[in-house]
Amino acid sequence: MLKEFFKKAYAILKDFKKPFIVLVVFIVVSETLQLVQPYLFKEIIDSIVKWQELTVQYVIFLLSGLLIAYLVTTAWSYQVDKRIFRILYEVERYLLTRAQKKLVELSLGYHEKENTGSKISKIQRGVDRILELIGNLYWELIPTAIQVIVTFVFLLFLNWQISLVFLSVVPIFILLTFWMNKKAYPLRIRRHYLEDVAYGKMGQSVININTVQSYAQEKREFKEFKHLRDWILRIGKKEYGIILNLNLFREMAIDIGRILVLIASVYLVIKGRVSVGSLVLFLTLSEKTYFSLFRISRIYDRVSDASAAVNRLLNLMGKESEIKDNPKAKPVIDLKGEVIFDNVSFHYLSKEPVLKDISFKVSPGQTIALVGPSGGGKSTIVKLIFRHYDSVKGRILIDGENIRNLKLSDYRQFLGYVSQDVEIFDDTIKNNIAYGKKEANMREIKKAAKKAFADEFINRFENGYDTTVGERGIKLSGGQKQRIGIARAILRQPKIMVFDEATSNMDTISERLIQKSIEEMARDTTMIVIAHRLSTIRHADRILVIENGRLTEEGNHEELKKQGLLYAKLLSLQAAGDIR
Ligand SMILES: Nc1ncnc2c1ncn2[C@@H]1O[C@H](COP(=O)(O)OP(=O)(O)O)[C@@H](O)[C@H]1O
Ligand SMILES: [Mg+2]
Repeated sequence: MLKEFFKKAYAILKDFKKPFIVLVVFIVVSETLQLVQPYLFKEIIDSIVKWQELTVQYVIFLLSGLLIAYLVTTAWSYQVDKRIFRILYEVERYLLTRAQKKLVELSLGYHEKENTGSKISKIQRGVDRILELIGNLYWELIPTAIQVIVTFVFLLFLNWQISLVFLSVVPIFILLTFWMNKKAYPLRIRRHYLEDVAYGKMGQSVININTVQSYAQEKREFKEFKHLRDWILRIGKKEYGIILNLNLFREMAIDIGRILVLIASVYLVIKGRVSVGSLVLFLTLSEKTYFSLFRISRIYDRVSDASAAVNRLLNLMGKESEIKDNPKAKPVIDLKGEVIFDNVSFHYLSKEPVLKDISFKVSPGQTIALVGPSGGGKSTIVKLIFRHYDSVKGRILIDGENIRNLKLSDYRQFLGYVSQDVEIFDDTIKNNIAYGKKEANMREIKKAAKKAFADEFINRFENGYDTTVGERGIKLSGGQKQRIGIARAILRQPKIMVFDEATSNMDTISERLIQKSIEEMARDTTMIVIAHRLSTIRHADRILVIENGRLTEEGNHEELKKQGLLYAKLLSLQAAGDIR
């Protein structure tokens, strides 16, 4: 499992290959430098034990050596730290910007599957863990591993018998570490998954706060969240049980090793085969190495833990958008605005058919209306026109070209879209209107707002166009949001304009007014209008009735009225209810 993890991690961080390697070299030097100190100690002790005339001078010489060794080591670690910090900050920037890019580029198909809280938590925790891993890697794992190896080789040169005694407990130690981590891994995967779910849940309660409070469901939201956290806690405890047992056994193995090394060294000193200085050196080195081994194994525990979280991030980063530009995609320089659906069928993931053999043609500048019961597939047709999804069967032609052959970002430049719930950014009204045309000046923005009959209510705000509207436009009414959405679309001067129940939140009077703007616009724009109130679409060139994924009626108002099918029925129902 870790192998695959490192492969993925490498793939994503390969831009940092060089600084990573340079850093390893720095650490090797740093760790080797650190061995000079204990060696000098040994020399000092041994020369004091065998006191001679020249000893004072020699000890002074050794002490100066020690001082230099300390200074150089410290200066060197300063360099190493500096480099590690630099890498950490650069990797953080790199990963977060890439993750954000991925998120905004992934197609609607992905975003409609997963909730916002989970997505953000996945990225946040993934990046945090990667940084933690890199920090651990350079501050702990690599230095310690190098230390272990270098020290062991040194010990081997000094005395191979002691080295063997030292080594005797190491295999048990390693086996324990692998085995326990393997046992903990499934628990970790489960825990990280639930963490995302919990964040998603928290996000949901906040996003829908009005409903939560209006229905007095605060306690229930709390309980459900707590239930999830309790669950995570239980898993965490189990996991920690395993790791604590592991630590206990590991410590025991090391204790045994220590005593064995001590016994062996004392034996060698008694036999007169090594000096007292060497005894101290052996003990220092083996102590140090055991401690390092212990540290490595704990880092390994953490790597194994982090890998579960990081894997989730790496999977997201590795995700490909379901909608991709064909390599030979054609740039779109201008658009006339002809739309043809040629036997188009579609279903979402669930495979439940949503559109069945839909065929129609809209000529440039024409206005067509889609009507029919909700859930029939009207909004899905719009998603296909925007190519948020690809059709499962059949073709969609734009100006005679298959939509799959158009460069998507070019193509969407020519589209305008206003939906039932216009997405509003937590920004000023001005910037919300200009969202699709950043370079627009105030005069253009005002003009668009006037056409959308938004100018009047905007001016009633104290700060006018500079009013900030809160998250999701919380300070605006539904109808006001829709008018801002319409202004946003008008400002862009699209060639194909889609209104998906765009006036559903407005009163009849506002709707009539906007109707005029729409008709004015309709002269040189292809319009696709979805509306429940049939009065809105009465003047459309053609009306398509979509029922249950099928196109069942087609014609203009008068024709459909005469046919006496669903459209006529809806018409008489609405006429009865409409106050006119
Ligand atoms: N993202 C989605 N994933 C799965 N099913 C969806 C999705 N969006 C819409 N549907 C389903 O597709 C059908 C058509 O929906 P839609 O096109 O929104 O209808 P309309 O706009 O006519 O009310 C409905 O049954 C709806 O439940
Ligand atoms: Mg709809």
